[in-house]
Amino acid sequence: MSSHRRRRIKIVHVVGARPNFMKVAPIMKEMDKRPRRFEQVLVHTGQHYDKNMSRYFFEELHLPRPDVYLGVGSGSHSEQTARVMVGFEKVLKELGPDYVLVVGDVNSTLACSVVASKLWIPVIHVEAGLRSFDRTMPEEINRIVTDRLSDVLFTTCEDANRNLKKEGAPKGKIHFVGNVMIDTLIRYRAESRKSSILSDLGLTKRRYAVITMHRPSNVDHKYTLRRLFEAFHEIGGHLPVVFPAHPRTVKQMKKFGIKHDKKKVRLLEPLGYLDFLRLYMDSMFVITDSGGIQEETTYLGIPCLTIRENTERPVTIKKGTNILVGTDKDKIIRESLKILRGKGKKGAIPPLWDGKAARRIVDVLKTR
Ligand code: UD1
Repeated sequence: MSSHRRRRIKIVHVVGARPNFMKVAPIMKEMDKRPRRFEQVLVHTGQHYDKNMSRYFFEELHLPRPDVYLGVGSGSHSEQTARVMVGFEKVLKELGPDYVLVVGDVNSTLACSVVASKLWIPVIHVEAGLRSFDRTMPEEINRIVTDRLSDVLFTTCEDANRNLKKEGAPKGKIHFVGNVMIDTLIRYRAESRKSSILSDLGLTKRRYAVITMHRPSNVDHKYTLRRLFEAFHEIGGHLPVVFPAHPRTVKQMKKFGIKHDKKKVRLLEPLGYLDFLRLYMDSMFVITDSGGIQEETTYLGIPCLTIRENTERPVTIKKGTNILVGTDKDKIIRESLKILRGKGKKGAIPPLWDGKAARRIVDVLKTR
């Protein structure tokens, strides 16, 4: 090995929003095992800033304190993206890393990959190649741009490999490594059993449903949001329903004057990682519009009804427990009742969702 190749690789990891934290944690831990090979810097853009959307995750997932906090906060897509870009450019010029590693598909992912590319710093994208083929979804634009600009593309499933190849990504850039979010789930599954969330809420294992919903397509339209709550109330007449609500959803409910029936749907503050894992892990089923939860329920074999018209994670439908129910009230109720009758979808675990994705990522990077 040449002396050049033995040089430490300086990597800037970017996190911004809640779903980023559980993806970066296992990668940083794995790189920590090789301190002579990797120098790591963690940048938090501050896209998410509430304690229960950010800080608690750092504590629970044992993430190091960010070396840099940009504090961009909320705003329109352009405002938020631009603020990340301006802040991140300064940081990169100072740090001069060998690589920038971004995860997922949030605005911070897009912003930082554009900045790094313009400074000729190679970008590593973890969770590359996912496509919903729906450009009304802001994340789809983030995915396309980030992948186009990235030099190393780590994928979670075979359909992502196919999407990237179809778009002309050179084969040598694509590495099918599995799912880092599942690494985190596997690592913290036993620990989450210590959470008292079920007894705190008076819930019985497998006798309740969990809802999460925050997508603009569901919460930014009064009629859609109202119909969805009608469905949730109906389901809440059959079994307890708990709904840890994203701040965006709460804001929109207030704006549209949508009230929920507390006896049918229990709205909670956003939960930390361990409480939430315990909550969905022991539920009868989950209704969600999250990307990550479609994967986590598939891994655990919990039926999942996705309140979207499409998904960038089709493997959770083909192999897993996921069903797309859209925003059709009757369909949501029908599929929920089916699960209540014991006819929930069964599934299998997709290849390489085995807790070793971060190790595979580091194995690829350490030889560069
Ligand atoms: C973002 C991601 C989405 C991801 C979601 C997970 C983009 C385009 N979207 O959506 O892909 O699934 O995070 O949560 O990047 N807010 C707070 N406190 C916070 C954060 C947000 O109150 O800590 C409220 C603000 O009113 C804000 C709104 O939520 O305007 C939306 O936040 P934003 O980061 O713009 O998008 P999310 O909906 O969270």
